Formats: sequence, C-alpha cells, structure tokens
Amino acid sequence: MPAKLPKHSQTPEQVLAAMREKKAADADWRGGRTFSLVYPAGDDVDALLREAQLLYLYENALNPFRFPSLRSMEVDVVGIAASLLHGGEDADGAMTSGGTESILLAAKTALFRARAERGVKDPQMLVPFSAHPAFAKACELLGIERVVVPLQDDLRADPKAAAELVNERTVMMLGSAPCYPFGVIDPIEELAGIAARRNIHFHTDACLGGFVLPFFEKLGRKVAPFDFRVEGVSTISTDVHKYGYATKGASVIAHRSRSTLLEHQLFKFRDWPGGGYASFAMAGARPAAPIAAAWAVLHYLGEEGYLRLARRLAETMDRLQSGVAAIAGLAVVGEPEMTLFAFTAAEGSDLDIFAVGDAMDERGWCLDRQNSPDALHLMISPEHDRIVDDFLADLGAAAKVRGPSRGGEARYS
Ligand SMILES: Cc1ncc(COP(=O)(O)O)c(C=O)c1O
Repeated sequence: MPAKLPKHSQTPEQVLAAMREKKAADADWRGGRTFSLVYPAGDDVDALLREAQLLYLYENALNPFRFPSLRSMEVDVVGIAASLLHGGEDADGAMTSGGTESILLAAKTALFRARAERGVKDPQMLVPFSAHPAFAKACELLGIERVVVPLQDDLRADPKAAAELVNERTVMMLGSAPCYPFGVIDPIEELAGIAARRNIHFHTDACLGGFVLPFFEKLGRKVAPFDFRVEGVSTISTDVHKYGYATKGASVIAHRSRSTLLEHQLFKFRDWPGGGYASFAMAGARPAAPIAAAWAVLHYLGEEGYLRLARRLAETMDRLQSGVAAIAGLAVVGEPEMTLFAFTAAEGSDLDIFAVGDAMDERGWCLDRQNSPDALHLMISPEHDRIVDDFLADLGAAAKVRGPSRGGEARYS
C-alpha cells in the first residue's frame, strides 16, 4: 500500500519521535561498524557541519546573483580542490551533488567536445572494468557506447588493451585514483597519453582519492601520478562528501581549462518566456547546505587537519591490511594504495569468503560483498582507528567458519 498524506496535522514531537523510531534500525556508522557510505571524522567536525548547514538550510544555489555568499563559497571550494590537484591558473570547475553528477558532467563535456572538435557522431567511451558504475550510467544517459577496458594482472586498467580499443569514435577515456573495488590507481600517465595523442578528453576519477592522495604525498607516501601534473588529464572528479569529510551532496568537477567548463559543461537557454537560464549542474534548484558544509570543513581542518586525519587513515589502513593478511585462509586482493581494500579466500584455502561475511554480519559488522574475485570490502575512515583490534579478533573467529554462505550475491552499498 503506498503511503497517504495524513489527514490530520501532527505535533513536531510526534513527527520526530516517529522518525527516531524508524532510524533505530539503520546501520550504526557512529560505532565504526560500517565501512563506506559515511566518513566520520570526529565529533568536532560533526558539530561544525550541523551548524554550517543550519545557516544555509533554505537558500537555493541555482542563482548565484541572489546569494553571492554561496557563489563565493563555491568558488573557494572549487579553487581549493583544483589547487590540491595541481590545476594551473586556468583551472576551474563547479560543485555538484556527488561523484556521480561530477562524472556525468565530465562525460557530457567530453561528448560535446568531441562533437564540436572532431565531429564524432557515434560515440564510445573506454571504461576500465573496475571503474565506478557512474560511468555506465553516463553512457546510458548520454547515448554513448561503453567499451570495457580489461584489467592487468595487478588489477589496474590495461593501457595496451586501451590503445587497441581507442578509435575515432572514442569521446572519453578515464582512469580511477583509486578504483572502488580494489583501491588501486590506474596507470593514468599511460592512459592519458593515449588520449592526448588523439585529442580525446581524459577524466581522472579521484572521487575517493582527491582529498587523501595529496596529503599522502605530503606525508611522504608513494602516490602514483593521477592529477593535473599528468599531461592529457582534462577533468578530475573529487568528492568533498567522502574524504573531504563534508556531509552528503558535495563534490567538485575540476577542469584543466576554464574553456571546457564554459563551452561544453555549461547549459544555457533562452527559448522560453521565463528569461535567461544557465546552469553548470544536472540539477536546477540546488541545496545550499552542502556548499556551506564543504566550505566550513575545508576551512576548519585546513592543511594541518587533513594531514592529521591522513596520518590516522594511513596507520589504520596499515594495521587493518596487515592484520587481515595475517589471518589464515584470507588474502588481500592486489596491492591497494590508499585507504580501502578487498580481501578474499587465500589460494588453496577451502574458505567461503561470503560465509565469513555472514559470520561478520552476525557480529554486527557491515562489510560490502563484491565479485571478480568474490571478496569482502573495507573502506576506512579516520574513526576506524578505534575498532581495529575488535574487528581483527572477530574476523579471526569468522575465518574459522565454513560455508555454505547465505549467498554470494555481490552487494554494493
Ligand atoms: C571511485 C568512485 N567514483 C565515483 C563514485 C560515485 O560517487 P557518489 O556515490 O558520490 O555519486 C564512487 C562512490 O563510491 C567511487 O567510489
């Protein structure tokens, strides 16, 4: 039965009590038992995000001329993101609602560019097998054929295969920094080089890495080239609502050159009675609160704060990864480079990895399932430093369980 609008008004207390009751069954992300979706960075950050959003709960970011403070915060957030990615003087961009919207806009830019510059009529996109589903969504929405670039043995996109697949119909090539399933960075230099030689738009998906890798580099950790320092990278998506620690609804699509933003991303329209209309985003009316939250957290933490959190992430990642690898029957998939990884049944072991997942569910841990290979997935946030020992103890016990599992249906949340 679909819900119906209640006949009678209710008190705010009644409404809020009903919501709290519903919420009781939700995942306990504050307790560090979930590994993606929310990226808690501490109570101080939470408190600031709440205040910043309250200040901008009602405004509409559609029209920057009515709310110049919003425009100025958006310009600051884009500028900060682009400079962390080593964009030059000509770099620019826009804020979006999330990684998916940034990717859709990169694809739109690439498609319109290819039509204008090379007259492409029957477009295709070269998408590594490990790339986020947002690229498949972009292909579906924009009428672009998705051509899969296979992975090398190290689980990174294969540039030799990409070189064979590229042709005059290719409107966009891309790589992830890092990819969601395995946490590895694709060979961006090689892939972007292939694109540059043919004047094809290249997108780096740094939705996960954009606010971690620059700080890992500063901490002296090895970071494979992925940003605008790589010749041929045209746009980069970087999510403030992931490792930038803003609440949801905040990402940046950064362009190497303002001209691709203005000529191919921007939508302009006059042909109706309502006056001139222009928008960089997929959405029309846009919430102001995520822009405020993003601006607030970037200024609150500053470089110092992000470095502090990056150090915590790195330590937690190292402890978790080596802890998992030390458990008999389990093996880490590939060589993860950032703060997320998958683990599977070690070669020769009779362990059913999804049965391990079930046993972890029973102990209250929410691990995502994935396939190719069958594996469980961990995405670490700074607050996970508190749960490492408990997690590894439970995983050690869970790894003694044998199948059958409740099912190996891969689940991405
Ligand atoms: C590598 C990567 N790209 C893009 C996205 C899409 O981001 P969003 O969920 O914010 O749309 C994700 C989400 O997890 C991701 O991991």
